[in-house]
Amino acid sequence: MACNQGKGVRIMISFSVAVDPHYGIGIKGSLPWHIKEELKLFRRNTLFKHIVMGQTTYDNLPGKLKDRYITVVSIDPEYHPEGVEVTHDLIAFLEEHQSDETEYIICGGASIYRQSYPYAKKAYVSFIKKEYEVDTRLEIFDPEDWDIVKEEDHEEFVYRELIRKEDGNR
Ligand SMILES: NC(=O)c1ccc[n+]([C@@H]2O[C@H](COP(=O)([O-])OP(=O)(O)OC[C@H]3O[C@@H](n4cnc5c(N)ncnc54)[C@H](OP(=O)(O)O)[C@@H]3O)[C@@H](O)[C@H]2O)c1
Repeated sequence: MACNQGKGVRIMISFSVAVDPHYGIGIKGSLPWHIKEELKLFRRNTLFKHIVMGQTTYDNLPGKLKDRYITVVSIDPEYHPEGVEVTHDLIAFLEEHQSDETEYIICGGASIYRQSYPYAKKAYVSFIKKEYEVDTRLEIFDPEDWDIVKEEDHEEFVYRELIRKEDGNR
């Protein structure tokens, strides 16, 4: 699955995230909000693609994510849920795949976003308009690292596709 988007930049590692106005992303292991339109967008962006998520996020999914190639990051050597690949070393995974032709979309949670952020060349970000009660933030995210290549205004959020600036972060 080759992926060549925005300014001719070849995308191998990207991330998909929804953030509130203070970069809040989670509470008690779950999303702070339930926004159907945002979930539809997530589905549209990730369908039939390779996605990567941490064990906490995967275990707390409300349902199975069908029609996606899923890699779950876990420290636990005994962790082998059915139908997904497991990696026990995220950095080795990112180093190995950062030059692939395939796009790998990092889908959280907080610890996985933080470690993957320097590797990501593209981001699919929903900026939620309302502030929510959160216990987890994506404080590493810096809008200055990115150029906006697409923007859509929705009722509860603004969706932006971002490409890393050439001098940004890594
Ligand atoms: N707003 C959004 O778009 C969005 C998207 C996804 C998730 N979230 C939210 O994020 C929160 C969960 O974040 P989280 O940080 O608690 O959990 P997480 O990132 O989903 O998963 C953490 C798991 O990954 C393991 N891990 C982390 N780094 C690793 C590495 N380098 N190698 C191997 N294993 C590694 C951790 O092991 P250890 O236990 O040893 O650290 C832990 O088991 C939830 O509230 C969720 O709803 C929000």
